[in-house]
Amino acid sequence: MFYLWKRSQVPLKNPTRISKIDNLIIFLICILISIISSYKLLLISPLSISDIFSWLLTFTEALISSWILILVSKKENPTISSIQIILVITLLLAVQAAKLVLVSTISPLSLIIPPALIISQGLGSITALTWVSIASFIWPEPQVAINNNLFFILLVCASVVSVLGGRIRSRAQLLQLSIFLPIGSFFSQWILIGEDKISLIEKQEFVFANGEIFSDSLLLAIVMLFTILFIPIFESIFGLLTKARLLELADKEKPLIRRLSIEAPGTFEHTLLICGLAEEATRMIGGDVDLVKTGALYHDVGKLHAPNWFIENQDGANNPHDEIDDPLRSAEVLQAHVDEGLRYARKNRLPKPIVNFIPEHQGTLKMGYFFHKAKEKNMKINENDFRYNGPVPQSKETAILMLADGCEAALRAMDISASDSEALEIISKIIFSRQKDGQLDHSNLSKGEIFLIKRAFLNVWKRIRHRRIQYPTTNNNTFS
Ligand SMILES: [Fe+2]
Ligand SMILES: [Fe+2]
Repeated sequence: MFYLWKRSQVPLKNPTRISKIDNLIIFLICILISIISSYKLLLISPLSISDIFSWLLTFTEALISSWILILVSKKENPTISSIQIILVITLLLAVQAAKLVLVSTISPLSLIIPPALIISQGLGSITALTWVSIASFIWPEPQVAINNNLFFILLVCASVVSVLGGRIRSRAQLLQLSIFLPIGSFFSQWILIGEDKISLIEKQEFVFANGEIFSDSLLLAIVMLFTILFIPIFESIFGLLTKARLLELADKEKPLIRRLSIEAPGTFEHTLLICGLAEEATRMIGGDVDLVKTGALYHDVGKLHAPNWFIENQDGANNPHDEIDDPLRSAEVLQAHVDEGLRYARKNRLPKPIVNFIPEHQGTLKMGYFFHKAKEKNMKINENDFRYNGPVPQSKETAILMLADGCEAALRAMDISASDSEALEIISKIIFSRQKDGQLDHSNLSKGEIFLIKRAFLNVWKRIRHRRIQYPTTNNNTFS
């Protein structure tokens, strides 16, 4: 019963379509992984039927593992792009190939942990954990069995990186991880492997063995530091959006946001309030809060092309729309804030998930005011000329931003003496009009989630009202 309720309340996100050519490339890489992981089994001479059988088994095992990895990454990231899937399996292919060449010289820790860090940062912990288990599992040379203790340390370290990597919110924390993890691996190898050797081998060899452990850990630290240095390059090539990148973009000192606060202060204020509304609502439905906060910050940057054409920046001065008195041209100016926003986003190399907020926050909404003005003037009009070009919101986060954008002005204008039910009524009315217009059709927001969004907006309204209530001051104007 609970399962059925959950399914009806939380529809799945629409997965991104992967082209036939990309599918073929992905399939070929998987075949290559399987070949690399199993071909050594065919090099035995003379070949017996059981050898061929065990080769076929390893080959199929590797192929199925790669397929499972792709499935898990798609499940964790429903909107994953084909280039990101190619990245995940190419990293697996690279590790398999590196194992063949470097197996006797480099510790598996330095081969498996750095890619796990990249995957966990860009695509989440579950994908990274799956990647780690498959990369450790498909071993091209089963006869060169690695030390059980080392394998244990490898799994623990890689799992720590995968879990923490998905949560880390700043580059400084990444740096700390890249220093403390090798130190941890050094001591655990010393205790688990070094002591092993002390009882079995002479003292001189123990020193040598520890030298290896030390150099392995040092190599791990160096490779991890290089990986952190290269993560921004991976971000821009593969469109990965790490938490650290999101938070960097959300910095209000970024030149584009600074420009917005100086040249379009009204829009900046509107943006800040929307950030609060969208953040609260996204937290309520369990969405990506960091994504929506950053997306909200950039949603109206396009207004920078002509700030005084938007009411929030007019400050009681002349309205240029009244001066031109042409509803069709006014509608073009409104659409231009989306087109210009996309241009600013390209110029500032904003990642795709953030760029999506720019056209999707307006969807294909009707510019009601100018549409009615055109009707009043008996102009021959096409309704589509007074609608934004879209697309309608494709994710829950962009849909929340659209709803917050719609409610912001109404909530701001509301009287502070208004009751909660009055505020809720206005919020519900605005959201229902978007729903009726088909703007939420592709967002995957369920009825239950829309209910929670309304509640969240109401909570923010209560906060605004509380802030606007004048506190009584003492005679000498001091506060305690
Ligand atoms: Fe807008
Ligand atoms: Fe807006």
